[in-house]
Amino acid sequence: MIEYRNLRVAILGGGSVGSQVASLLIEHGEELAARVGAGIELVGVAVRDVKAKRDGTIPKHLLTTDAESLILGADIVVELIGGLEPARTYILQALNSGADVVTANKAVLATHGPELFEAAEQVGAQLYYEAAVGGAIPIIRPLRDSLAGDRVKRILGIVNGTTNYILDRMDTWGDDFDEALAEATRLGYAEADPTADIEGYDAAQKAAILASLAFHTIVPLDAVYREGMTSITRELVHSARKAGYVVKLLAICERLTDAQTGVEGVSARVHPALVPLDHPLAAVHGANNAVFVEAEAAGSLMFYGAGAGGVETASAVLGDLVSAARRHVAGGPGVAESTHANLPVLPISRAITRYQITLSVADQPGVLAAIATLFADHGVSVEAVEQSVSAGRDGQADARPTATLVIVTHEASESSLASTVTALAASPVVSSVVSVLRVEGL
Ligand code: HSE
Repeated sequence: MIEYRNLRVAILGGGSVGSQVASLLIEHGEELAARVGAGIELVGVAVRDVKAKRDGTIPKHLLTTDAESLILGADIVVELIGGLEPARTYILQALNSGADVVTANKAVLATHGPELFEAAEQVGAQLYYEAAVGGAIPIIRPLRDSLAGDRVKRILGIVNGTTNYILDRMDTWGDDFDEALAEATRLGYAEADPTADIEGYDAAQKAAILASLAFHTIVPLDAVYREGMTSITRELVHSARKAGYVVKLLAICERLTDAQTGVEGVSARVHPALVPLDHPLAAVHGANNAVFVEAEAAGSLMFYGAGAGGVETASAVLGDLVSAARRHVAGGPGVAESTHANLPVLPISRAITRYQITLSVADQPGVLAAIATLFADHGVSVEAVEQSVSAGRDGQADARPTATLVIVTHEASESSLASTVTALAASPVVSSVVSVLRVEGL
């Protein structure tokens, strides 16, 4: 029997996630109430324009433009507006009024997380954000709760569905980048302006959130190294597969020991990477997301599923809503975000990984030896070299045979690798550095 008073829920934002949350909340209200031990009453949905065309999922009488009054009358505020403002202001208003907040907003968390968590702690409220990373995939709770007794060593995440879709099409259909992006746009994965996805900004926000949680450390967004994936060509994806890899845009969060100072720190980076075909992340197709976690005691874990979509993301939001409602019924303050480790966030130059470097060189005696010496001079150890020769162009007087060298290194630091690449580019025996890709997941 339910004895607790009804809990008043306000939704901010009537877009695809907001309307799905409203609709599921209304449809499954009784079942959720039974799970919580209290009725959950949707008191309103704040939108910019109540007259805007909608699919009717949200009952008209619940729509309002007065977000502030809605916030002040709610026990739980669900922020689904996205972006920095007014989302940040509304979240602060809600927390300061003692309401718990559920948000799917990666941008506001990655940018203003410490301020928001501090506000929640001050009043004993709680900020929930399962939907901010990986859509429907449970990854925030596993990192915050299930793995709270373990030590996370590394996270490799495919956390952007649009770029995974594009790279997957380039790999499986042989599309070039523009064709694959056009298809992603047609299917509604990519926004009209795809910059946030293809340049890695979206993934970098998620990396900041994951790294902060996993390492009990505040990892600011501007400390996340970011490279987009627009330089990845169909040819590159094709030769990666021939070499036994698939190209993925990864968010990589890891513990590191700074080789120069011996200090333990953490690092977060987003960039395209080669993933071995037998790694579980290589099997993540289409617009799906997956987060591969390596922990000291638990070993390797992978969390996989839909990283976006209205109803899928609504599932994660509703899970948070149920948690928040249960907390109200149980009483007591929220659990503060754990940042006790406070590890230094190390720059990309301290990252250590393996690299695949593709060079175009003249095919003549001494070239391989000169290149090997260059690697040795910079302290980078070569693991494997593969050469393919293409004859000079027919009928041209200056046609000289050229070779393509694909060199895979052992683990090396980014700074050693960067100086090696600079030296290679300047070397008279190298016609061009065709590509430099990090190899992850070995
Ligand atoms: N634009 C994101 C993606 C979805 O393509 O995965 C929301 O985070």
